[in-house]
Amino acid sequence: MAASMVETGEDAFRQMFKLYKRRNPPPDFSDVIDFSKCVTNDKIRPVKLDPAAVSDGDAANVGLHHVKDWRAFTLQGYPGFIFITNPFLRGSQPFWVRQCLKTYPQKPNICNLDMHMSPTDTQDIWAKSREPRTLLERLRWVTLGYHYNWNSKTYSANHYTPFPTELHLLSHQIATACGFTGFNAEAGILNYYRSDSSLGIHVDESELDHSRPLLSFSFGQSAIFLLGGTHRQDSPTAMYMHSGDVMVMSGLSRLFYHAVPRIVPAHQEVADLDTERCSWQGGAIVEQVSEEDWVVCSRYIHSSRINMTVRQVLGHGQSFPGTPPPPGHAEQHQAEDGKHMKRRRCSDSPNTEETR
Ligand code: OGA
Ligand code: MN
Repeated sequence: MAASMVETGEDAFRQMFKLYKRRNPPPDFSDVIDFSKCVTNDKIRPVKLDPAAVSDGDAANVGLHHVKDWRAFTLQGYPGFIFITNPFLRGSQPFWVRQCLKTYPQKPNICNLDMHMSPTDTQDIWAKSREPRTLLERLRWVTLGYHYNWNSKTYSANHYTPFPTELHLLSHQIATACGFTGFNAEAGILNYYRSDSSLGIHVDESELDHSRPLLSFSFGQSAIFLLGGTHRQDSPTAMYMHSGDVMVMSGLSRLFYHAVPRIVPAHQEVADLDTERCSWQGGAIVEQVSEEDWVVCSRYIHSSRINMTVRQVLGHGQSFPGTPPPPGHAEQHQAEDGKHMKRRRCSDSPNTEETR
């Protein structure tokens, strides 16, 4: 164990996590990277995406700008990490926000409120969302596709419901533009943060194929994201995630420690979504959000943050250990050795570090 860890009982990541989580006195944010400010230097490098990989029409269908207009970055020392600053077309974020708040929490998907409420009570999270202190405010996570089991920290073949088609498509276009053809969105974990929530230090390693990227979408209030290395002693880099930003963790960075120590107030961009909704252009997938639905969504994202993470669990032709491979695929990859990091507990409490 490193000497500093013996002295303080803490690793470098945990020290940084506590620093950025601190309320009194608040930390100095001047070292937090803001990709939206578009500075490139020794540490922040532009990434060239392939503008021909996704047609302009396919991008627009899911509410994205043409790939040639995306601004993507990586960080020196973080191979496979790609940060795309808000690639969403004006007027399309409201659709994704509505999906996260109205559609995805519904059955057959699973949310934290299901843990100790009857299906009839959680069925109607949205319908009851107009009153203050609602179920929506107590929503902390939703799982999609292969439902993550918070206790065993695994996915399994028999705990699956259809993955939302439109989110599959959105993820597919992002992955393709980043050079990952054939990305298959199979599991989603959606996190809902209040202004005082945080997400503890962890590695996402429950997926069986780590060669496939992990995608992360942010909406609403901003956050500080810490990206470390393969050891807790590796000091993390802090960066802002703003509404619309997309992160791709692939390559070596796919298995790096990360955390969200703090939610920070958004600037104008969240207020702008109110006017954006009206400038919606239309798309095969992204439909306009009704005024009535937007009232609820807008109120929510003015104080909260939503994060969607999308994962491919199985490699091509791979199946869960103990289950037969899918028809037509002779070879079956061996599953990982089954060790797991500490993650969130199966709980409906806020995303505090202790819950992970
Ligand atoms: C996760 C995760 C980060 C975020 O769900 O695994 O790391 O930005 N989320 O909320
Ligand atoms: Mn994660």
